[in-house]
Amino acid sequence: VRTGGCVVAVDGPSGSGKSTVSRRLAIALGARYLDTGAMYRAVTWAVLRSGVDLADPSAVAKVAGETELGIGTDPEGYGVTADGVPVEVEIRGSEVTGAVSAVAAVPAVRSLLVTRQRDLAAAAGRIVIEGRDIGAVVAPNADLKVFLTASAAARAARRSAENATDVGHTATDLARRDRLDSTRKADPMVPALDAVVLDTTELGIDEVVVRLREMLAERGVGR
Ligand code: DC
Repeated sequence: VRTGGCVVAVDGPSGSGKSTVSRRLAIALGARYLDTGAMYRAVTWAVLRSGVDLADPSAVAKVAGETELGIGTDPEGYGVTADGVPVEVEIRGSEVTGAVSAVAAVPAVRSLLVTRQRDLAAAAGRIVIEGRDIGAVVAPNADLKVFLTASAAARAARRSAENATDVGHTATDLARRDRLDSTRKADPMVPALDAVVLDTTELGIDEVVVRLREMLAERGVGR
């Protein structure tokens, strides 16, 4: 097992296969794994619990700054806590999902979490980080940057299968969140200039992981 540093940035919209691919790739590489979306979700949970107005960026930023956020980097299972409360289940619920784009659009929240993400990456050395702005902002020197996409229909079908929700409703919700995440002023979701864009509409998870491992091998990293 090689222990050299290696950072893989995986960005893309939800339903692109990002999370499953990133976790599997981390396990295959013997690397750590960071789910940055879970961090934005945990802060959103704390904001909702606090009762502050989601439309008030300074109040949202204040709660974010006062929340003790805990997250691990084990790809086989990472705990997420907010002020010591385990929130893994709550952060996947519709309340948090409906509010997270507003919280993630607040610049002060982003700079707080980006700093934390960089610290976690530096401590891990060898890590797969997934999110929306990893290649462009969090880890601009990553060894490999990939931006996963898939057709809107494929993404909605995957998400509704995962969450056992109605596909029409899921499609509407994904479209809304993508629009908010892509058009916000602070670090909108866009592929980094040097990212490899991979359309996963017709690819299975295993095929995507194989492609990423090939890309790493071509670059002489990740072994
Ligand atoms: O990947 P996810 O669905 O768990 O992400 C939740 C939200 O957090 C998503 O709507 C966009 C935001 N996010 C972000 O702005 N930047 C990141 N690096 C990760 C997620």
